[in-house]
Amino acid sequence: MTKQEAIDLLHENIKTESLIIHSLSVSAIMKELAKRLEKDEEKWEITGLLHDLDYEFTKENPEIHAIKTVEMLDDKVEDEIKDAILAHNEKKDIEKDIEIALYAADQLAGLITAAILVRPNKDIEGLTVKSLKKKFKDKAFAKGADREKIQQIQRLNIELEEFFQIGINGMINIKDKLSFDKA
Ligand SMILES: [Fe+2]
Repeated sequence: MTKQEAIDLLHENIKTESLIIHSLSVSAIMKELAKRLEKDEEKWEITGLLHDLDYEFTKENPEIHAIKTVEMLDDKVEDEIKDAILAHNEKKDIEKDIEIALYAADQLAGLITAAILVRPNKDIEGLTVKSLKKKFKDKAFAKGADREKIQQIQRLNIELEEFFQIGINGMINIKDKLSFDKA
């Protein structure tokens, strides 16, 4: 599957604007992580794009979230992508680099999005690592962004501060596609 095919599939299955933004954001962070770790950038981007593909079918039924996506993808993507998608919802052990990356990037995208939304202009370019670090430590801020999952990135020998920078850079790369006024 190409990146464009993954984007098309995302739009076919997800109608909620904020979820499209989330998927694009996770994908953009995955791309930067792949670059940093010298992995297959397109494969990691596609994994981010597709990881919540079943969300609108499973939101009432979270125990089958990810399992349904893997069913929907069938033989359209390789097993490594499907394993990462299963691992992000803890439907299998988190072992491989791509699995750890998706697990952590999913949560970091949420934290960065929340940090952007409280900025006066909702701009990402002014968001600093320092301010993101402060928000990470503030347990009352964006409670849904699981700090422990974000910390898993250290298993890939990436420290938190660097991960924050990678996340911000990734999302800046696609900033034109992130219309936070609609989020
Ligand atoms: Fe997600």
